[in-house]
Amino acid sequence: MAPEETAPTTPRQATVETPAAAPASPVDDDLPLAREAQRAVRVLNPSGSVTMPRPPRRRVFAVANQKGGVGKTTSTVNLAVALALHGNRVMVVDLDPQGNASTGLGVEHGAGTPSVYEAVVEGMPLDEIAVPVEGIPSLYCVPATIDLAGAEVELVSVVAREARLQKSIDAFSGELDYIFIDCPPSLGLLTVNALVAAEEVLIPIQCEYYALEGLGQLLRNIELIKAHLNARLRVSTILLTMYDKRTKLADQVEQEVRGHFSEIVLDAVVPRSVRVSEAPGYGQSIMTYDPGSRGATSYFEAAEEIARRGAKLAARRDGKNQKGGN
Ligand SMILES: Nc1ncnc2c1ncn2[C@@H]1O[C@H](COP(=O)(O)OP(=O)(O)O)[C@@H](O)[C@H]1O
Ligand SMILES: [Mg+2]
Repeated sequence: MAPEETAPTTPRQATVETPAAAPASPVDDDLPLAREAQRAVRVLNPSGSVTMPRPPRRRVFAVANQKGGVGKTTSTVNLAVALALHGNRVMVVDLDPQGNASTGLGVEHGAGTPSVYEAVVEGMPLDEIAVPVEGIPSLYCVPATIDLAGAEVELVSVVAREARLQKSIDAFSGELDYIFIDCPPSLGLLTVNALVAAEEVLIPIQCEYYALEGLGQLLRNIELIKAHLNARLRVSTILLTMYDKRTKLADQVEQEVRGHFSEIVLDAVVPRSVRVSEAPGYGQSIMTYDPGSRGATSYFEAAEEIARRGAKLAARRDGKNQKGGN
């Protein structure tokens, strides 16, 4: 006899039944699921309207920290997706030979794919390399392949080796509001190229032991580049990542970073969350993988702050001539 024939009603079915008189009222908003759905809609912005102010001119960020595993790539991918979902034109430049940003955006980056290597080493135009990210309007990615691993060495003998990426970006014909350059975990020539091409540095700091270790070295390098290669460069943004609210340590790191760097530290803090670390395995950002999650909400809020701060700074700089967000 087949076991199915006698299978009883599953407990699952039994629990689905709800009292017929349950009122469909605003009370539903208080349910965790309803709140999550509301958060998801806010994050995904299905109307596609401009809900984060566009900067009056393109902002180029180097996402840098020579420590590995602090959230550079995760922050690059999620901030870029958040800004693109909210009406901004965004490009991610993957400058790490590991190609994690390309993976996280679901962009092909196998050997032979035209990539950032061809741009910085061979001078191929970015227009021929940048690819649209599937499912996210106005988001483009310049992928990195394993070829880039050789670039640190190959660039040494190239003319104007520190400014190769800047040259590529300046020649790019597409109109953009944001470029995020995802740096490798080192302070070599690739990171120098990012710092010469950028105007702003975004430093993700992991709320863990030794969080600030090596930061002095990064800041000294930034000062050197500012003095000799790129006078416009400034550390504009610090983002605290992998915050575990159960630990005292995370809180201590936050206090220390805020005490030291004050207003450049974003109010939004990214929590440590398994969902965030799962998303790249599906070639997705947390914004699309689980838009109602706290990880997605925190990156959404961080992106909103970046956009608002940028708009405010520009307004201050341009005074009366400020054009507004279009
Ligand atoms: N908020 C987070 N919560 C949990 N895991 C995270 C979070 N942010 C990043 N991760 C995971 O930590 C690892 C390192 O992050 P990543 O962004 O690749 O750092 P980096 O680019 O600085 O090396 C990755 O496996 C990533 O998925
Ligand atoms: Mg990385």
